Amino acid sequence: MEFFVTHQSVEHYSGDCAVAFIFKDIAHQNKDLQQLLKLNRFDAIVGATLMLSRVSGYKTKRLLVVGLGDSSPNEKNYIKVLHSLSSAFSEAKVKNVVIPDIQIDNRDESWVQSTTARVLKNASYQVEKVDAKEKNEKGILEAISIYSANNDATEINKGLAIANGMALTRRLGDLPSNICTPRYLAETAKSLAKSYKLDCEVLEESDMEALGMNSLLSVSKGSSEPGKLISLSYKNAGEDQPVVLVGKGVTFDSGGISLKPGSKMDEMKFDMCGAASVLGVMRAVAEMKLKVNLTVVVPTVENMPAHDASKPGDVVKTMSGQTVEILNTDAEGRLILCDALTYCEKFSPKVVIDIATLTGAVIVALGNHHSGLMANDQVLADDLKKAGSNAMDTVWQLPLDEEYDELLKSNFADMANLGSGGAGTVTAACFLARFTKDYRWAHLDIAGTAWLRGSKKGATGRPVPLLTQYIMQQI
Ligand code: BES
Ligand code: MN
Ligand code: ZN
Repeated sequence: MEFFVTHQSVEHYSGDCAVAFIFKDIAHQNKDLQQLLKLNRFDAIVGATLMLSRVSGYKTKRLLVVGLGDSSPNEKNYIKVLHSLSSAFSEAKVKNVVIPDIQIDNRDESWVQSTTARVLKNASYQVEKVDAKEKNEKGILEAISIYSANNDATEINKGLAIANGMALTRRLGDLPSNICTPRYLAETAKSLAKSYKLDCEVLEESDMEALGMNSLLSVSKGSSEPGKLISLSYKNAGEDQPVVLVGKGVTFDSGGISLKPGSKMDEMKFDMCGAASVLGVMRAVAEMKLKVNLTVVVPTVENMPAHDASKPGDVVKTMSGQTVEILNTDAEGRLILCDALTYCEKFSPKVVIDIATLTGAVIVALGNHHSGLMANDQVLADDLKKAGSNAMDTVWQLPLDEEYDELLKSNFADMANLGSGGAGTVTAACFLARFTKDYRWAHLDIAGTAWLRGSKKGATGRPVPLLTQYIMQQI
């Protein structure tokens, strides 16, 4: 699917189909169109669609009308409209189409152009069945032209780069854990490094042993898949301190000896969506050639029960020197992240943001709408909130008071890997905060937002839009 800009008016487009945005008040539409809308009893509620053919005043054979309600939609309604467009295109087997400009409350033209491109491209993402005879249907939409008064594709290309990053994130998330192993993530990082000329380093278990990353290694030791620590660096801003993103890469989380219940355990192949998202952001940033320095770090392991797996009550010494009592082997995300966060110090980061499917508790608190945000720096937290609302990929901040940190007390080590009593998302973040004292840090818990359940089961590509927007705001 290709995207173009056009400064030709939509009425003059001569392809297969044109889109017309319609308010409830149709008085200013041409008479022919007014009649057709009435005849078809078209109610212009937000996102309602109707395909018409041979409408006078339009060169295209078909006109797809889309309802906008009473007046200019707000940004949420516009996303709804874009999703309706996308389903209408595939239902009517549209081959090429032109989309007119539209006014959105509180948003400028560049926002509209990049969002339109990003959402439509992302909606065309096709899940791939693994070596199956039955293939998922391929879309037939070949070209989307978006109106731009100055015929400038800059914003559209930004939206497409973000959608391409999301597609990588979604594909990695959707892959089963017998394919998407730590080794597979390392190969993916290496191939990104090759395509975009990035520096790539992959630490093997022996390297991590030498660095004292016993906490990370305690998670991978029960698995026959060796754990890895991947870092990828993109440099396009001289000697500026880099933004560092750390993504949880548990390619399958069985819970380990604290084994999870069987129902929906398959979803734990998505426990590497944090890792997938930082690789997606790297792809988007490199494709846009942004003038920033960005490093992404991916601690990646498989969490399995085995005779040599960690057992509840085991104590490990982290790379930072602090010791941890592993009360529950299913709280493994923080055990790999803490060593990765200590490792980050070597990059002298401007900020560090970790992204992790860390707790089921964040789904209880925030459902599948906002990602959880916690930070040791309020300016950083506010920047992320702003980026999230701009990118329509939102976060909600949770507190990090001392009182929660105290719940990590252990009689046998500096801390337990489990909080005693409530606020599971916050105590998990308090655990991480003990390893991020030397830099500005934020944590995104994406357990509720990284994938969808039910018939639309699959990775969402979040929070690639939020993080890419944050990085664009740094320039
Ligand atoms: N990967 C899970 C978190 C998770 C659970 C994400 C369900 C999405 C859906 C994480 O490793 C985990 O198991 N967390 C435990 C922590 C607990 C043992 C303190 C949880 O949330 O139950
Ligand atoms: Mn777990
Ligand atoms: Zn996990």
